[in-house]
Amino acid sequence: MTATSSVPEPGALLVGVDGALHGRTGGYQKRLGEMAGVYRDAAAYRRALDEHGAGQVVYHVEEHRNSGDEGALIIGTSILQPGSYGDEFAMTRGHLHRKADRAELYHCLSGRGVMLLETLDGRSRALPITPGAAVHVPGHWVHRSINVGDEPLVTLFCYPADAGQDYELIADAGGMAQLVVRDEDGWTTRPNPDHTGYRGQQR
Ligand code: NI
Repeated sequence: MTATSSVPEPGALLVGVDGALHGRTGGYQKRLGEMAGVYRDAAAYRRALDEHGAGQVVYHVEEHRNSGDEGALIIGTSILQPGSYGDEFAMTRGHLHRKADRAELYHCLSGRGVMLLETLDGRSRALPITPGAAVHVPGHWVHRSINVGDEPLVTLFCYPADAGQDYELIADAGGMAQLVVRDEDGWTTRPNPDHTGYRGQQR
């Protein structure tokens, strides 16, 4: 007989287009005050802090996890509120997985966004995410989601439970290499003049 008691129960989840996750086991909220240094326009960020307060929730995550073991999954929803800071849109902090080879799936449930993806050696992709679209993020890609619409950007995500997140990589590099900015057609990308190259890959 094997020790079946250590095998987690299956997760029965209901996922709302608003990101509500019935069957969640946890989650977290990211507040405006935690986004210092993320946006290039520091004055615009300070104005947002004055207007909305440091405690305003800018995105939150609902999760279902049953094990942190290699081979297990973390499944959840991300709800990113709309907004703008200078010519940049509201976005997540972004990260590379601590185990950098770990991949991730994002499936858009509602809203309008962009998934910005970069490799440490200088490749860059900006993929539109609208309801029904999915992005398969391979390992070794830094990734961030950006809300280019007027409503919450809601995605369903799934990634290996042992992946972890390196959030310092982007800050240490002066931001991601590309900016997603407002233009007359909605949004476009532009090189970030503050980007110094990613750790270990300085240009
Ligand atoms: Ni990730």
